Amino acid sequence: MPIEAAARDWWKSAVVYQIYPRSFRDSDGDGIGDLRGIAEKLDHLVELGVDIVWLCPVYASPQVDNGYDVSDYRAIAPAFGTMADFDDLARAMRARGLRLVMDLVFNHSSDQHDWFRSARASKDSPWRDYYIWRDQPNDWRAVFGGGAWTWNEPTGDWYFHIFAPEQPDLNWENPRLRAELWDIMRFWAEKGVAGFRLDVVSFFSKKPFDLPQAGGIFSFYANGPRIHDYLQEMRSEVLDPLGLMSVGEAPGVSAEDAPLYVDPARGELDMIFHFDHAGIDRTPEDFWKPAPWRLADLKEILGRWDTALAGRGWNSLYLGNHDLPRLLSRFGDTGEHRAAAAKLFATLLLTLRGTPYIYQGDEIGMVNAPFAAIEDTRDIVARNGWLTAQAEGRAEQDFLADHSLVGRDHARTPLQWDASPNGGFTAGEPWIAANPDFALTNVAAQRADPDSVFHYYRRMIALRKATPALVHGDYTPVDAGNADVFAYVRALDDRLVLVILNISRETIDIGDLGRDGTMLIGNYAGRGALRPYEARVLRMAEHIAEVASPACSINEVDPAYMGLDR
Ligand code: NOJ
Repeated sequence: MPIEAAARDWWKSAVVYQIYPRSFRDSDGDGIGDLRGIAEKLDHLVELGVDIVWLCPVYASPQVDNGYDVSDYRAIAPAFGTMADFDDLARAMRARGLRLVMDLVFNHSSDQHDWFRSARASKDSPWRDYYIWRDQPNDWRAVFGGGAWTWNEPTGDWYFHIFAPEQPDLNWENPRLRAELWDIMRFWAEKGVAGFRLDVVSFFSKKPFDLPQAGGIFSFYANGPRIHDYLQEMRSEVLDPLGLMSVGEAPGVSAEDAPLYVDPARGELDMIFHFDHAGIDRTPEDFWKPAPWRLADLKEILGRWDTALAGRGWNSLYLGNHDLPRLLSRFGDTGEHRAAAAKLFATLLLTLRGTPYIYQGDEIGMVNAPFAAIEDTRDIVARNGWLTAQAEGRAEQDFLADHSLVGRDHARTPLQWDASPNGGFTAGEPWIAANPDFALTNVAAQRADPDSVFHYYRRMIALRKATPALVHGDYTPVDAGNADVFAYVRALDDRLVLVILNISRETIDIGDLGRDGTMLIGNYAGRGALRPYEARVLRMAEHIAEVASPACSINEVDPAYMGLDR
């Protein structure tokens, strides 16, 4: 890659860490994580070796959806701190070489935003056309349950919301609104942020309101007729002039359509998050209803996305986030093989082509929390879901069984820092209970244990950074039909890296696969048949001779290899 392009595309070789501020670290004892709490813990991120922090929304908000309902895009929510705290955090991050990516919630605002308060009070409001109004609603459903239209008494009509009634959708057709949004982006760019994660970017342009709602709810709301005009405008107005990175959350966008969003030649976004594997354990008709998943599908989906974007865009890679249950509880093992499985999924995340996003807590292998009663849940989706379930006559435990498979609360329990009360997250009463397993699984314990999940992530990140083939190399599946083993080669010029992952509780004979390779990292010592959740990353074939007989040592990146490849 020419140097100029490499500098512009710095985010391709970066590793991102996602912070859910409410649950990261509370500095003032009010039970809610905050900006100062994040600042206290930056060295954790530096030690891990990540480059970018994606900060979920910290703007002023009534917190109906934990900040994804913004009442002032240029202010910080008091629960998270002040603008001075934000500036201090941004400065502290810069000093450590960490870049900050802010979450922009531009599909909708809060109903408490001044724009909406004015718009709903009078049809003559200057902000009336910032939102979407109709005299008659249609029958479209909202993602958080119920209808997508809410009656507004003062003006005698209905407003549109894809999410909760407290999250009215913004009217992107209005050029004045768009100009205002570009200004908000400039405001944060001036504060030194490196880029933006755009919430539900695929929903900005609405389809004609006489269209019957068909198919999955995400694909229905995605890809409205003007979405690409809007994104090209955003790119030319803000992203390009200010050199900002962009990643759009893109529910409902297929691999086939993805290049429309991220092909550099089109001038839209740098990356999108697709939902194909997020929905792998859900019913197609209802994202909040669990369904069994198969490794074959996970392999197929990840492979399909790599193929779709090869040479036509850049992937973003994630296995967990604040909207999904913990990845180990979904895809891995939470018992005997928990640590091995956590390391295996770290290996998967960090050896695919694309920019990896690590969700807070996954670096220590956090798992779903036990929610014994509805009153312990906090998420609007759980609370709304329970209202519907009650209307259907379902029992609480039956509903909670589904919640343990699809609930968003699991990813939002406090990050487990140490074995002190509440896992060291807060000196007060946490807004959501800590997972009781913090006594065993926590950052402090894992920092002290060289064989921990945390240190494996650290080494895996270091290996990725030292290995251009793992960032830019082509992806070729190996033994694609294998029901338990996920294996692939990443190849760049004459460099070949083989990844072998046993995503099962069985011991599996893989014959000669990888036998001649140089072990770069693995989660077990030695070779032979693959043990439960064993992960191996090997440098293959002719290049082995270049490496001074590296021993296969547990969790270790071979230093000779790293030196050679730099
Ligand atoms: C996606 C966000 O990730 C999620 O947390 C939020 O509830 C919805 N968008 C609505 O903003």
